[in-house]
Amino acid sequence: MEVTLKIFRYNPEVDKKWHYETYSIEAEETDRILDLLEKVKGHVDGTLSFRRSCAHGVCGSDALRINGRNYLACKTLVRDVGHKITVEPLLGLKVIKDLIVDMEPFFNNYKKVLPYFINESPLPADGKERLQSPEDRARFDETTKCILCAACTTSCPSYWGNESYLGPAALVTAHRFIFDSRDEAASQRLEILSETNGVARCHTIFNCTMACPRDIKITKAIGELKMAMVTGKLD
Ligand code: SF4
Ligand code: F3S
Ligand code: FES
Repeated sequence: MEVTLKIFRYNPEVDKKWHYETYSIEAEETDRILDLLEKVKGHVDGTLSFRRSCAHGVCGSDALRINGRNYLACKTLVRDVGHKITVEPLLGLKVIKDLIVDMEPFFNNYKKVLPYFINESPLPADGKERLQSPEDRARFDETTKCILCAACTTSCPSYWGNESYLGPAALVTAHRFIFDSRDEAASQRLEILSETNGVARCHTIFNCTMACPRDIKITKAIGELKMAMVTGKLD
């Protein structure tokens, strides 16, 4: 079958303004949008720029706006989006070239929530590991699944209006560590989240949850953070 692929193009070295280019290419219903982009780059126009790495939904590098919604190009099939396909860069981040956006502000917000395990206490007497019950591990299981693709943050209207808002991806990471019974920096992170551009900027819009390719219940996780801030409890 033939599909029409309309792709956002912008090369700051030659273009005064962005534009769209349209390509007609042969595809199968089961082709991924990433396959179509590779076809254009490999056979039609080698200057097309986009990010990809694993091609299997693991690295998080190919989140794009496809027919107006955020998806991973490597996990989205032609039959999921139809034969007329528009591919654009993520919203809310500066376009560097074509479909590539500047992820620096996204990762700067991520770093603010201290995205690493913090525990200064001595190891248990056997010196081996800090044990955790299955129930305690289950408390934050969902938020360990984040691949930092930015599909959530760049679909959030609160973030579009204010890139200083930590955004749902950073909040998901904060949740992952705050609810880990082995970590000792929950109160420090909750303090960071209580700042002006922390959880208060989330207005429960749910776009983030709809966009997440890992099916993380992001809005629920943010709700748990809000509750922890109010009650001071982590159970
Ligand atoms: Fe991507 Fe989901 Fe992580 Fe957001 S929470 S960065 S959408 S994997
Ligand atoms: Fe934005 Fe998600 Fe909250 S879309 S407003 S972070 S529920
Ligand atoms: Fe790695 Fe799609 S290329 S998630």
